Amino acid sequence: MKRMVITGGAGFVGSSLALLFKQHFSNLEILCFDNLSRRGSELNLPRLKAQGIQFIQGDVRNSEDFERIGKVDWLIECSAEPSVHAGYGESPRYLINTNLNGLINCLEHLRQHGGQCVFLSSSRVYPIGLLRSLPLQPSQHRFELTDGPFPEGVSQLGISEACSLEGPRSLYGTTKLSGELFIQEYCQTYGLQAIINRCGVLAGPWQMGKVDQGFMALWVAQHVFGHPLRYMGFGGEGLQVRDVLHVEDLFHLLRLQMAQVEAHSGVIYNVGGGHQNSTSLAELTERVSEITQRKIQIHSDPTTREADIPYYVTDITKVNQKTNWRPQYSLTHIVEGIFQWIEREKNQLKPIFDL
Ligand SMILES: NC(=O)c1ccc[n+]([C@@H]2O[C@H](COP(=O)([O-])OP(=O)(O)OC[C@H]3O[C@@H](n4cnc5c(N)ncnc54)[C@H](O)[C@@H]3O)[C@@H](O)[C@H]2O)c1
Repeated sequence: MKRMVITGGAGFVGSSLALLFKQHFSNLEILCFDNLSRRGSELNLPRLKAQGIQFIQGDVRNSEDFERIGKVDWLIECSAEPSVHAGYGESPRYLINTNLNGLINCLEHLRQHGGQCVFLSSSRVYPIGLLRSLPLQPSQHRFELTDGPFPEGVSQLGISEACSLEGPRSLYGTTKLSGELFIQEYCQTYGLQAIINRCGVLAGPWQMGKVDQGFMALWVAQHVFGHPLRYMGFGGEGLQVRDVLHVEDLFHLLRLQMAQVEAHSGVIYNVGGGHQNSTSLAELTERVSEITQRKIQIHSDPTTREADIPYYVTDITKVNQKTNWRPQYSLTHIVEGIFQWIEREKNQLKPIFDL
């Protein structure tokens, strides 16, 4: 590994990976490429610069912006409109042009110059209808899976790669699934080698969480800054469940996969924190107020939005079997890390989290 570009490299995942790669591979030349459209991404620029990581302000939608990147050994595609709610009640143009056409520009760059690819797909490729029809029962603080019967690919461990892809999945999820398909075609047709991970919720410090994306950081920040939060959808009681993966755990998985790219190229993996790192919003509130020692108002909005799902936990059996990887960060550890970061950087973060 000699030269790497991270598109979306000023964002949460992109900048975290850039700094971790630099820390572990000091000889690696890393370029971060980003149009700085995400509020708060600009705060990462001095952190990147301090570690000798180059920054190029560019847009994945513009193929001519790629000329400034040159030949790379690896391209990690982290640029995106990452909200599953994007495009509802508004034009989907930015979402599609960035997430799909931007990816094609990345693939074209690699086809012309060589180099391998990492793609961060999403758990949101699985259909909303299927996820809403899972057999669930409410307990006091969360939705739980019943004893079944479950659709194919679903078990008490969560959602596996064998789950059906039939049915609408949100515009965001569609850009990601289309991206996976294009990558597999580039692998077949042009000999590209690419890692594809369908990631569930990723979290950690330096995530500029907002209502429609990045709820872990948002939850902690609003406790620190004393702003109210809202349980939205499914009755408005905060019973919906997701599993959470620390971005550093993702990094360690990528290291393993990239070291054996032939074995993993084009293969689809579900990647997430797994059942032990799952939480409902109501449980998260409890945990965050315990760690931050603060209580805030939580409003309730029972209306379920088009892309909301009540339950998603990643079944990580396949990726574990193929790589031996397991997440190391517990949920408590993740919340504590975010809390320490926000306390430390309070002054510059306050305007970002002011809703
Ligand atoms: N965070 C999660 O929970 C999660 C889960 C699954 C998959 N992912 C995927 O991981 C990747 C990174 O997500 P993230 O959480 O870091 O989001 P982020 O919003 O923090 O980072 C994305 C970065 O892309 C940049 N960007 C947006 N449009 C661009 C464009 N047209 N050209 C160049 N740069 C552009 C933004 O400025 C931002 O810095 C995305 O592909 C996302 O879909 C994230």
